This record gives sequence, C-alpha cells and structure tokens, in this order.
Amino acid sequence: MRFVDTIEKKADGGKLSGEEIQEMISGYVSGEIPDYQMSAMMMAVLQRGMDAEEATALTMAMMNSGDVVDLSDLPGVKVDKHSTGGVGDTTTLVIAPLVAACGGTVAKMSGRGLGHTGGTLDKLESVPGTCIEQPLERFKEIVRENGVAVVGQTGNLVPADKKMYALRDVTATVRSIPLIASSIMSKKLASGADAIVLDVKTGTGAFMRTKEEAFELAKLMCRIGRLAGRQVRAVVTDMNQPLGMSVGNALEVQEAVELLSGKIPEDDPLYMVCMLLGSQMLQMAGLAADDDEAEKMLKAHIDDGSGLGKLQKMFELLGGDASFVTEEGMKKLTAVRRTMDVTADQSGFVSHMNAEEIGTAAQMLGAGRAKKEDSVDPAVGLVMKVRCGYRVRKGDPLCTLYINDEKRVDEAAGLLRRAIRITPEPDEVEPMVYGLVTAD
Ligand code: URA
Ligand code: CA
Repeated sequence: MRFVDTIEKKADGGKLSGEEIQEMISGYVSGEIPDYQMSAMMMAVLQRGMDAEEATALTMAMMNSGDVVDLSDLPGVKVDKHSTGGVGDTTTLVIAPLVAACGGTVAKMSGRGLGHTGGTLDKLESVPGTCIEQPLERFKEIVRENGVAVVGQTGNLVPADKKMYALRDVTATVRSIPLIASSIMSKKLASGADAIVLDVKTGTGAFMRTKEEAFELAKLMCRIGRLAGRQVRAVVTDMNQPLGMSVGNALEVQEAVELLSGKIPEDDPLYMVCMLLGSQMLQMAGLAADDDEAEKMLKAHIDDGSGLGKLQKMFELLGGDASFVTEEGMKKLTAVRRTMDVTADQSGFVSHMNAEEIGTAAQMLGAGRAKKEDSVDPAVGLVMKVRCGYRVRKGDPLCTLYINDEKRVDEAAGLLRRAIRITPEPDEVEPMVYGLVTAD
C-alpha cells in the first residue's frame, strides 16, 4: 500500500492494521515518509482518533524504533511512576525512595522541565555534583545497591517520538489523545518497568484541561499497558493549583526532604498524592495487599527516616554531595540574593489559581526554561503561602519569590497577581484526586 492510501484510510475514519502502523513508523524514522505526509496522518489521527488496538500497535512500533532497556536481571517487580506534567509536582523525589525503603525496586528514567512544568532531572541537579547521565550498567548497579535510582534517559530511547513530537508541536496535533498516550507509553515501556503508575493531571496547569479528557487518556494508557503485557494503573489528579507549595528546583527538593522528614501534615495535597501513588506502586509490586497496609508501610518509612536515607544514598551514588540533602543543607541550596512577597491587593478568599501562569512566573525568575537550550538557576523560584479556599486579608502574602536575577521580577509578580484570584465570597474547591483508573 502507498502511504497516501493509508492516510486516506484514516482520514475516512478507517482502522489501521498493525502492519500499516509498523510501516508508517519505520518509514518515518528512516526518512522514507516525509514530514508533510506524516503531518497529514497526524491531523487525520487527531480528527478521527484511534482505538486501543491501533494505539497499542503505534506504541509498540514507536518503542521498537530505538533501544529497549532490559531490567530483568534486577530483583523483584520493577515499578515506575510517571506524571503527565505539572507545577510544584515533586512526587517522584518522595515516592521513589520511599517505595524503595518499603522493599520495592524503582529504576526510573526521568525528563527535564520545559515551559511551565518542572522536570525531575533539573531538581536532582540542584544538589551539587549530581550526575544524571549514567551508563545503563551503572544505573542498574545503583538500583541493586540502593533499591532506587532516578537518572536521565540512557541510550537511544524512542527516536520515533522525538521526531514525531517535534512535528506535532508545529502542526497543532500535540493534543490528540492517542498520540499523547503512545508518546508516553512508548517511552515508559522502553524504559523497562514491569508495573507503572501514571498520574494524569487535569486543570489549568495540565495538558488535559478537562476531567473527561484526562479520564479518556488514563483509560487508553491502561489499555495499552495491558495489551502490551504490563501492569498499569492511573490516577487522575488536580492541577488547578500547584501540587506542593514550592515551585523551583532546589525549593522542590527541599519540600521533598521536609516531607520525608515528617514535617508535612497528612492532609497536605502533596502528601496525599504521594501516598496514593506510592500505595499503588507497593500493591502492584506485591508488597502490600491493600491501600490501608500500603499507607501504613509508607508512613512507617517516613517516621523511621529510611525514606530520606534512600534519597540521600541515591544522591551520593549519583556523585552528589548528600550532606545538602537535609533540612539544614537545603537552606544553603535555596539561599538567594533576596526574597520578596507578592501580597493580596484585597481581602477575601482565594477562589481560583492558574497553575500554568504560576509555573511560568517561576520560569521567568530563572527556575525553568522557555527553550530546550536554556539553563536554569537551581536556587530560585517561589513558595506559595495560600491554597484555593484560603481566606486572606489585604496585604497578606500570597507567595514568596526567591530572586537572583532582577530582570523579570516585575513581570513575574504581575503574572502571579493575575494568576491568584481573590473574590469576596469563597468558591467551590476542586478535590485533589478525581479517581483511579485500571485497564478494566
Ligand atoms: N508528554 C509526552 O511525553 N508526550 C506527549 O505527547 C504529551 C506529554
Ligand atoms: Ca484510495
């Protein structure tokens, strides 16, 4: 079949065969299929969709376009987590070591931040000396010794996704649910875990702006996982405000250290989402029978300090100076030239936040990058003082900015004033967690 006919089939709403999808991916990666034909296909997929079988075939073809990591020589069920991207989401740095402290095996490859969302690799690098680029064998050695390692992608993982994502970015096809699902799942499956928990975010700071779309994406990814023979569960959680209070690289590591030191209350949203994700990981790994048992285990390993110990050891094994990875040490890494409060310009209730704009404000201060090539300042960012539903008086601090570079401070402060809306009457507050999704 000529590729033009395959495009036409999808444009007419047809179902592509596994063979057609395989030929599409190998043809596109080899350069035989040009960008303009692939663009037309992506647009046809955006408009006509794909069912779970097509999306699975696409995921597998993409996964097989590059290296596939084999973790089978590591002991136990290898568990991984993935978040579709958020603001103030430092769950990985809490859960990965905590699950390891409970006896789990966490071998995780992470990404960098782009735009308004943060990336775990940038957070790891805020601790001096930490090297996130590790050869595969060394990565496995660290997991064997410590039960957990979080590193950058090793090798040539899913080259098809790099090429397709760049094309989607300029053809308005990023938002296609089957294309997002196959992009995420191809990378997750290629990194070798047996069991994966997905945190699908919805709200003003997320890819998926509505709950309906978030559930659709979550379900499709779970089905792909099952068809591919892995355990996958997903939770849909809120991103209408930052998850944690801190937005910025060292500031988020600091918040993770505080949580692992038992300094963050159990009704805190970051704490709650960490418990939820960690609990799913322990159950998929066969280490806990239900939520109750899993949460007790997670809490016990916060209380005895062993979760924090795993995080410190991981930094040490990645070459980092683990003496910073304490409450005292993190104060040094978040020291900046000055801090400044953004205050409420009226009394009332915090009724709405735009998490994307809050992330963008942190990026303007130097915490994130607009382009892939930009560098980040590990110490800067912001710490929220309020959450949705809080009552404030005029002049109360809404957030504290951590500043080294003055260039865009006014712009960031202005954006934050617009992003945190105060009204005379309280508005309904969204729940933190909307639901759990499995392949069934
Ligand atoms: N994250 C990804 O890795 N891919 C997408 O397409 C969207 C979010
Ligand atoms: Ca035809």
